[in-house]
This record gives sequence, structure tokens and C-alpha cells, in this order.
Amino acid sequence: MAESITITDNRTGESFEVPIVHGGVDSSAWKKNLPGVWFTDPAFTTTASCESSITDIKGDEGILRYRGYPIEQLAKDSNYLEVAYLLVNGELPTTEQYDQWAHDVTHHTYTHENFRRRFMDGFHFNAHPMGMFVSSLAAMSTFYPEAKDVEDPENRKLQITRLIAKVPTLAAAGYRFSIGMPYVYPENDLDFATNFMSMMFKVAEDKYECDPAITKALDILFILHADHEQNCSTTTARTVGSAHADPYSSVAAAAAALYGPRHGGANEAVLRMLDDIGSYDRVDEFIEGVKRGDHKLMGFGHRVYKNFDPRATIIKEAADNVFKVTGTNPRLDIALKLEEAALNDDYFKSRKLYPNVDFYSGLIYQSLGFPPEMFTVLFAIPRVAGWLSHWSEMLEQDSRIARPRQLYVGADVRDYVPIANR
Ligand code: CMC
Repeated sequence: MAESITITDNRTGESFEVPIVHGGVDSSAWKKNLPGVWFTDPAFTTTASCESSITDIKGDEGILRYRGYPIEQLAKDSNYLEVAYLLVNGELPTTEQYDQWAHDVTHHTYTHENFRRRFMDGFHFNAHPMGMFVSSLAAMSTFYPEAKDVEDPENRKLQITRLIAKVPTLAAAGYRFSIGMPYVYPENDLDFATNFMSMMFKVAEDKYECDPAITKALDILFILHADHEQNCSTTTARTVGSAHADPYSSVAAAAAALYGPRHGGANEAVLRMLDDIGSYDRVDEFIEGVKRGDHKLMGFGHRVYKNFDPRATIIKEAADNVFKVTGTNPRLDIALKLEEAALNDDYFKSRKLYPNVDFYSGLIYQSLGFPPEMFTVLFAIPRVAGWLSHWSEMLEQDSRIARPRQLYVGADVRDYVPIANR
């Protein structure tokens, strides 16, 4: 069987053949043979915007792999820093490479004092931590103007290390500002997750201490969120990066996309939804409201996963381990009943709607002590590694600037009418 498709232009009767490569057909054959005829695909549901060797998702089978490694194995046996190295560099590190990477990331966690004292302090008292996070990423580009040289691979490497190292510091600074607490400096002898918890929650103690089960759960959540191929925010990072914007600006744009409730903002929305439902016996009424179209069931549905989201399965296990330490989150009963009701209902079954990564993550974050406003920031911290891996891959691919076409459906040419005559 030929691995190609044949397209016939019925206006002229002419045909052309396009090979199918890696499951896709190259649009340049279309462009060459049918100039001026554009694909209409506003939400990119059938468009592959790039070739990538970072993350493999097979949505129908619930498969997620980073650089070929199954997410289940990474969540069980790896740690976030190693996964970040894998995403950025393509291979798991040797001991020597890992030690150097951990050292580099640990020694780039500080920010310029102007950032804390002037930039962060300028926010309104009730600023949303995700809004602060997006802005502080963009502000970082002004502290590192040399990052503009995006074509230098060594420079790219340095900025990637800086960004992965600094995002927990930026995230925690936003939170501390929002609750009026002094900023906590990073500590070099703490691992990535514990250092973040310390910057978030340390008060007056000499050394912040955290149950290892808690930091392990947070690290697993970081691994699960580290990349997810061409989602809305990653596509944004690649698109903005294709204009050769510096990595801080590209990642700030990606974080802005993540902020939306259809994307990374869903974890906060899930918690608010559970609060609105309020009690176990109101679940059925809420489900009926979803079916009437009154509201969405947040944390359900995915563009790619149409069977189950493997991250949601791992998160449920991580939640059990956290609840053993913190006690059960009182909203868990409502969440479980929602899931059960939805999985047995034709509305959700026929549309292939299953719990996604955001359905249970918020319950864990809340039990770890994070307020709902921080949930999307917690998604963003590890996703920075994914965004940067894609940004870097895109630059290595000698990509052209992202510039889609449109189908113009507006007014035809008309003469300007002075305001007094309208
Ligand atoms: N609750 C109720 N109905 C839904 C939901 C939902 N959560 N998600 C999709 N549907 C319905 C939708 O109304 C449509 O129905 P119909 O065919 O009758 O018009 C059908 O299912 C197909 O949905 P869609 O909107 O065409 O699907 P999409 O691929 O464009 O959107 C999505 C995917 C994730 C944006 C959407 O499912 C959604 O809004 N979910 C809730 C928000 C959420 O949990 N987002 C987190 C996604 S996972 C983390 C991440 O990667 O960001």
C-alpha cells in the first residue's frame, strides 16, 4: 500500500501525490500545486506545526513518553531535575552530568535585589500570583540582555539553566508578597522541591523541614507537568521564539497562555468548582447543569487523550500518599463522586471526556498548603523545562517565523465616511 495521498483539483482535473511521512503530509506540496487555497484549521485540530523529538503522546492509548521514556517509569524512579535535563538535552545524564546540572541549577536560583525590592514590591496588594509570575518572567529579560543572542547555543544553554533555576524563586516571591511575608532566600543544600517549599513557607525557624513524602509528591507533580508537546502554551513559546524573541519573553508568553482556565488555569478552576458544589449530595444536580450547558466540568476533557490521561492515574496514587501525611482533603469525596457520576453518564462517555491532570492535582496542592491562586504557578514551574526544550529545538531546526494565513471574510473595499455623515 502506497504511503501517500493523491489530491485532485476538481477545477482543473489535475492531481498530485503527497507522501505521508511520520503520519503527516508536507503542506509545501499543497502550496506549490494549489497556490492561494488555504487550510482552515483555527484550533490546529489537524495541523502538525512542527517535527519534534521531545514528547510522544498517543492519546487513544493513554501513552505519554518524554524522549521515549514512559511517564510512569520517570514518575516512579526519576526526579524533576533529571527529567528537566532529559527534556532539554535529549538523554538521561550520567552521574557526572547530573551532579554538574544540579550544581548549576542550584547556583542560579538567586535574583537581582532590584527584582525583589523594586519590581515585586510594585504589584498591587491583591495581585494574582500567576499574573505576577508572567510579568516577572518578562522582566527577567531586562536583567539578562545578552539572552537576545538566541543563535548562540552556549548562550541558550546558560539562559535555560538560569530560567529553570529561577522560576521557583519568582513563584515563591509572588506568593510571599501576596501574603505580606518577607522573601526567603534560596538555600543551596536543599533539593529543588524542598528549596521551593522553604521559599514558600519558611517563617522563623532556622531550617525549614518538610516531610519527605510531601516533597516526593511535589517532585512527582513537577515531573508530570514538565512537558506535553504542542499544547497551547508550548505552541506559544515556539511561535514567539520563532520571531527570535529572547527566551524570557518567549517563556513569559507561554506562561500567559497557561494562565487561561481552559489550559493550566483549570486546576484552580477545579478547586473553585468543588467549593461551589459544596457537598456530596449536590453532585448530581451539578452534573445535570453541565449537561444543560450551564457550566463545564473543569478538569475533564482533553484535545488529545480520548481514553484516559496517564498523568491523572499517577496523580491519584500520589494523592493517596499525600493524604496519609496530611489527612484527607474534605473535597476528595465530592471529586470522587463527580468522577464516578461522569464516567457513567452518556454525555461524558459519548464525548470521550475523562479526568485530566488538573482534576486531582489541586486537591494535592491544597493539602500541601498551597492556596488555589498558586496552582497554575505550580503547573508553570516545571513546564518551563518543556517550553525551553521546545524553544531550543525550534531554533536548532532552522525554523522560519510562524506566520499563518487567514481567510478574509470582512467587508469589500468601501469609501471612508466622515464622522458627521455616519
Ligand atoms: N465539561 C463539559 N463538556 C465538555 C468538557 C467539559 N470539561 N470538555 C469538553 N466538553 C464537551 C464540549 O462542550 C463539546 O461538546 P459538543 O460536541 O456537544 O459541542 C465536546 O465535549 C468536545 O469538546 P471540545 O470543546 O470541542 O474539545 P476541545 O478539544 O476543543 O477542548 C478542553 C479541550 C480541555 C479545552 C476542554 O475539554 C475543556 O474546556 N475542559 C475543561 C478545562 C480543563 O480541564 N482544561 C485542562 C486541560 S488538561 C491540562 C492542560 O494541558 O492544560
